[in-house]
Amino acid sequence: MSLTGKARLAGVIGWPVGHSRSPRLHGFWLERYAIDGAYLPLPVDPEDFEIAVKGLAAAGFRGVNVTVPHKEAALRICDKVDPFAAKVGAVNTLVFGDDGISGSNTDAFGFLENLRNSAAGYRPDAGPVLVVGAGGAGRGIVAALLNDGVADVRITNRTENRAEQVAEELSRRFDGKIEVVSWDRRVDALEDVTLLVNTTSQGMHGQPALDLKLDGLPAGALVNDIVYTPLETPLLAAARQRGNQTVDGLGMLLHQARPGFSAWFGINPEVTEDLRATMLEP
Ligand code: ATR
Repeated sequence: MSLTGKARLAGVIGWPVGHSRSPRLHGFWLERYAIDGAYLPLPVDPEDFEIAVKGLAAAGFRGVNVTVPHKEAALRICDKVDPFAAKVGAVNTLVFGDDGISGSNTDAFGFLENLRNSAAGYRPDAGPVLVVGAGGAGRGIVAALLNDGVADVRITNRTENRAEQVAEELSRRFDGKIEVVSWDRRVDALEDVTLLVNTTSQGMHGQPALDLKLDGLPAGALVNDIVYTPLETPLLAAARQRGNQTVDGLGMLLHQARPGFSAWFGINPEVTEDLRATMLEP
């Protein structure tokens, strides 16, 4: 596609950035909506982060996504930060405007929109939720759930003190109860949950399945995996086979991109089946 001199520019800053699926995702929407614009992969060494962001803003970029390892540095560079991103301590979307750099964290939006769009039954006040994993993704999802009004979030992690740390930190910043469940007792914590979320890498292509027996999971509980390669992880397959409603992880990636696209390119883009198919191509 050719660009005019008025083309709108955005991109993703990461180090490395070659694995990022965001250029394909935003590229799909730019073409779909016939927008005069481009979204570029921008490899930036951590020590050049500030100079790169300020340079892009000075060069007329509309903004950028920020991925690993820059999400904390991105928070510090902002003139304005949305309250959720400030509480989570990480920013993944920057918008360059007349009033400076505004930062937000759209991972929670993506996670919750995926649930709302894929599972009509998701309600934050339905009951306890079990989150498996306490890495960066797990931490963000616990924050998203508390921010959405879930009153009782359980977190279990192979390395228990990581779960303790997340619980300690987030309980100071959000309402709602966070309970750490020890890894040996994780099956017991399923007994009355309404939602189970895997935030670990287990179940991904090349990794073993998540080691979690679902026998005690209530029939009405929803099961979500943030892994999307494969789309149906062993956890989701086991849940589906016993009749639980399941939500795959691809939608989180797609929905988290919507606020940035809308701010930079002026259209609130849709998550459609053909977009999902494009993202799953090798
Ligand atoms: P991310 O930022 O993507 O969440 P991460 O910080 O590396 O990545 O976290 C990976 C998560 O997968 C962690 O919860 C990790 O558990 P540990 O804190 O005990 O490492 C979890 N994980 C990785 N391998 C695992 C395994 N074999 N069994 C159970 N959990 C595992």
